[in-house]
Amino acid sequence: MSAGRQAISRAALCACLATLVMLAQSAHAAPDAVRGEQVYARCLGCHALASDRVGPRHCGLIGRRAASVAGFDYSSAMNHSGLVWDEKTLSRFLAKPMSAVPGTTMTYDGVPVAADRADLIAYLKSVNTKAACQPESHKP
Ligand code: HEC
Repeated sequence: MSAGRQAISRAALCACLATLVMLAQSAHAAPDAVRGEQVYARCLGCHALASDRVGPRHCGLIGRRAASVAGFDYSSAMNHSGLVWDEKTLSRFLAKPMSAVPGTTMTYDGVPVAADRADLIAYLKSVNTKAACQPESHKP
């Protein structure tokens, strides 16, 4: 093989590898609410979208102040956390609930993988449009 051809095939190999790296990165780039619903299965032991169980309901979670579901018996740690639930506060809390809000009664180890949390939060952001989260008055 001549030096010239070798250089060309090396360039082609580099381009191909660069494309593969981009594809691998894009697999994690966009949070996926459908995958997030599968991650949410880990929460169903204690939570439901539209009703309070061991933990409070999750309809309307995004943008809500922490500990603001009327009638739910929150820990004083959550009552005084001063958090408002958005992507950032949720990701920090869900990574390690008991470190993020020391004294919380959500005795759960957390969702350690960042991509799982991103997908889960994408799902939580989408739940308000689900039938389970429509207010009673909007039902036919
Ligand atoms: C072992 C039961 C349990 C599991 C599992 C659990 N939670 Fe909780 N969760 C709770 C309890 C109890 C609270 C109330 C915490 C407090 O008052 O300190 C809570 C509170 C929360 C809050 C704060 C809500 C508010 O109204 O301020 C969020 C957000 C939350 N959980 C999300 C999740 C998600 C997402 C998962 C799944 C990855 C999950 N939880 C898994 C029991 C649980």
